[in-house]
Amino acid sequence: MKVLGIMGSPRVGGNSDILLDEALAGAKQAGADVEKIILNKLKISGCHDCKKCNETGICVLKDDMPEIHKKILEADAIIHSCPVYFWTMTAQMKAYLDRWCALFDAKWRWQKQYYPKMKGKRIGLITVCGDPNVHTADPIVHSFKSTADMTKLNWLGAVMASATDKGEISKDEKAKKQAFELGEKAAS
Ligand SMILES: Cc1cc2nc3c(=O)[nH]c(=O)nc-3n(C[C@H](O)[C@H](O)[C@H](O)COP(=O)(O)O)c2cc1C
Repeated sequence: MKVLGIMGSPRVGGNSDILLDEALAGAKQAGADVEKIILNKLKISGCHDCKKCNETGICVLKDDMPEIHKKILEADAIIHSCPVYFWTMTAQMKAYLDRWCALFDAKWRWQKQYYPKMKGKRIGLITVCGDPNVHTADPIVHSFKSTADMTKLNWLGAVMASATDKGEISKDEKAKKQAFELGEKAAS
């Protein structure tokens, strides 16, 4: 059982990172092998919509995303963690998500060669926003849940938290518990 964590904030050690670590600790405790990818440390350009991947399932862009595609395919569950930037996800997370295109054919079905690995894969989300109203992050949840629904991924749910300063979320026991439980669920 492999659980992959995708960290979408540029703030390493920040709120999204802390909650993702909680989730991965939960997954580890439940027996999973875990790995965390910090998107901001990698080079991931936006999708060029060249459509070449529609035929091959291989992205022509030469950056770090093809390596992440491999890790996505190998994982049993993927937990994303992302702060709200201007009412949506960070640029790092959006570039990553758009590059999922390579996994689909022209009709937005899984590429045949990827279907056996993507079918039923679990996907979860953690969001953090500065606004005390956690629903400020609803657009991020909408993006990930809609992707899961369209592709019949197994939606694990979203943990939505609120914090502003770096590391502030470590005082939020409820959010940390929810993130830990999300990780346990991902690995069960
Ligand atoms: C460029 C930028 C834009 C932001 N936009 C929003 C926003 O639209 N709504 C909101 O509630 N918080 C916003 N925030 C606050 C962050 O979501 C908040 O500080 C969060 O805790 C950051 O998480 P992190 O520590 O994981 O990076 C913004 C922060 C930055 C740096």
